[in-house]
Amino acid sequence: MTPVGPTVATIPSQRHLFDMPREVAYLNCAYMSPLLHSVVEAGTAGLRRKARPWEIEVSDFFDDSEALRAAWAELLGAGPDAVAITPSAGYGISLAANHVAVGSGQRILLAEEQFPSNVYPWTDKARRTGGEVRFVPRPEDGDWTRAVLAELDERVAVVALPNVHWTDGGIFDLARIGARAREAGAALVVDATQSLGALPFDAKTIRPDFVAGAAYKWLMGPYSLGYLYVAPHLEEVTPIEHNWIQKANARDFARLVDYTEDWQPGARRLDCGERSNFALVPAALAAARQVLEWGPANILRTIAPTTRRLAAASAELGCTTGHDLHRSPHYLALGLPAESGPEGLSRVRARLSERRVFVSIRGDTIRVTPHLYNDVEDIEAFVAALASALWGKR
Ligand SMILES: Cc1ncc(COP(=O)(O)O)c(C=O)c1O
Repeated sequence: MTPVGPTVATIPSQRHLFDMPREVAYLNCAYMSPLLHSVVEAGTAGLRRKARPWEIEVSDFFDDSEALRAAWAELLGAGPDAVAITPSAGYGISLAANHVAVGSGQRILLAEEQFPSNVYPWTDKARRTGGEVRFVPRPEDGDWTRAVLAELDERVAVVALPNVHWTDGGIFDLARIGARAREAGAALVVDATQSLGALPFDAKTIRPDFVAGAAYKWLMGPYSLGYLYVAPHLEEVTPIEHNWIQKANARDFARLVDYTEDWQPGARRLDCGERSNFALVPAALAAARQVLEWGPANILRTIAPTTRRLAAASAELGCTTGHDLHRSPHYLALGLPAESGPEGLSRVRARLSERRVFVSIRGDTIRVTPHLYNDVEDIEAFVAALASALWGKR
């Protein structure tokens, strides 16, 4: 469980900061967050800037990107030199997969049904090296940490996991897994897409080799931007693509053809091409700053009672609520009662959509992921729609 210190406070509803009609109950941040008004404004101003390129300065290629890097670094518990700007989680994980050493017959440990962007780079790596991808089976008691530790031994070259399982919020204790990985000589690669921003993270404690993620969910940013944290001991990581802005002379536009082998410091060498995106970067920056201002510990503390109330009300309707002990508080995954029959899920889907209640169906479970814009009315709308679909209560 994430420690909740004395400075942690709950945050009142922030719905007014979003473009969210009253009749919409959006409980689906794990799919994608809505954008704050401030984020839309920053993004629109950025897009407009490109309408007048004569006003774009050299500093526009660097200042916002550096501020964004610093904001994400703060959320990761790292310094800005450790963070590269990428277009997606899969990009960062592919970069990590290129770098880590996997010998023939060595294992790459993943969790069953983890998100494909943290699977395909590893199946490809295994193909190229003669390594073997092994999926840790979903543990019956929900204790992923114990299940991973049981398979993490000297045969493992890399363990690549999320902080929480994307389907149901099952939590992985990365500090313990990281410690065991170091003992076993394995690299730790983390996909933090479904947690960074809502669940406090500290690279200094976890000591991962790489942390990749997309920014359009719990970091509340636009689509098509992500981050890659790279541990300080990994100085010689090779970029996936080569471009001018990774290089030491990038700020000197008149001398870009003085080709150089020298890099921008730290993880900047791994930045994707055109990472200065004039619309997306200021938008992501406004979002990251708001997340920092709220604080992930406060966000978690505020969302937790919402998922608890949703869980309690759904349990009263006969739903299963998973392994509460091993679930991150910003997530809830509901199973329908057996009595609802084979048509239960499609009835629920139809009723929720009719009533403009938004969640995700993943496999047989209903994934419910609220945020600070949700309030009591949203909880009531969800529970009423579920009751109506399951038991015909209106
Ligand atoms: C755990 C996780 N990782 C990554 C992603 C997105 O991956 P990418 O940025 O490669 O599109 C998602 C999207 O749902 C996700 O749930």
